[in-house]
Amino acid sequence: MTDRITVNEVGPRDGLQNQAAAIPVEGKLALIEALVHAGIRSIEATSFVSPKAVPQMADADELYPRLPASDRVAYSALVPNRRGLARAVQAGAKEIAVVLSATDTMNRRNINLSLDQACAESMATIAEARSLGMRAKGYVAVAFVCPFEGAVAPEHVLALAGQLREAGADEIVIADTIGAAAPMAVRDLMQAAVDRFGSTVLSAHFHDTRGFALANTWASMEAGIRKFDSSIGGLGGCPFSPGAAGNLATEDLVLMAEQCGFATGVDVPALRLAVRLAAELVGRPLGGRTSQWLEAQDRRAIRQSA
Ligand code: COA
Ligand code: ZN
Repeated sequence: MTDRITVNEVGPRDGLQNQAAAIPVEGKLALIEALVHAGIRSIEATSFVSPKAVPQMADADELYPRLPASDRVAYSALVPNRRGLARAVQAGAKEIAVVLSATDTMNRRNINLSLDQACAESMATIAEARSLGMRAKGYVAVAFVCPFEGAVAPEHVLALAGQLREAGADEIVIADTIGAAAPMAVRDLMQAAVDRFGSTVLSAHFHDTRGFALANTWASMEAGIRKFDSSIGGLGGCPFSPGAAGNLATEDLVLMAEQCGFATGVDVPALRLAVRLAAELVGRPLGGRTSQWLEAQDRRAIRQSA
């Protein structure tokens, strides 16, 4: 049996949340449609956060009910608190994600709560979502390095993940929010998390700030992780974490997974159309580490057919 890798596309949220250009709802929907067309079946579509904090996500209530192929695609929405959960429920969401940062300062910068307060709000939001029959994911953000407090202890991350599970989280996402993790630390933490929680409830989220996103992905795969967040064309960054660059590019994840014998169900040529559309929407070129090679293949194919 071929092992599968599940791609959770976060471009429409993590990717678009800090873009300078204002993207209309129609543009976001067209991008999501292109992603679905390419075979992506898990998408973080938006966030129900304060429009003052993240103006780019102010259209979440309008976008969510219009998401395409919602019977076939597992859509999720990021919510920072119970207020966001209520909006997500109203918009028809079936799955939410809560982001708990591992450090006090990061929680204060991101959601204006201390670590203790953020823990309490995250647990209450997850418990309420579960009681409403929704699926709930719990992120542990800045799980390796915090831009304000430095290195984060693995035991602390595991303890927070354990609390999220106890609150009812169906899935735990370990996130290298600023792209500062290195593969050895990733492998060790992921292995410890797999030993403790089992690989099926875990996934990973990397940024490519230092070019390590694929190496960190591979280290996670070796530890047994089979689900990854990625962003079309490497779009992304976090407005609240200085130094965070784009996410692991979806096309890089798909190419590496497929070439290592994993099935993703994603069609690379169709995915590249989505990269092009995303680039048009944000008004600048996009593409992961593999993009130059992919373009060279195109040129070769054109020469051969000429
Ligand atoms: N959706 C929309 N509005 C919300 C909201 C939500 N989920 N939660 C709070 N608000 C509103 C409040 O009603 C209030 O509105 P008002 O100014 O019109 O009265 C305002 O936001 C401030 O509320 P308050 O509870 O004082 O929150 P805050 O100013 O401390 O902000 C958050 C807290 C969590 C709402 C805000 O920091 C936020 O949205 N952060 C998200 C950050 C993010 O998306 N990070 C990237 C992903 S990890
Ligand atoms: Zn991120």
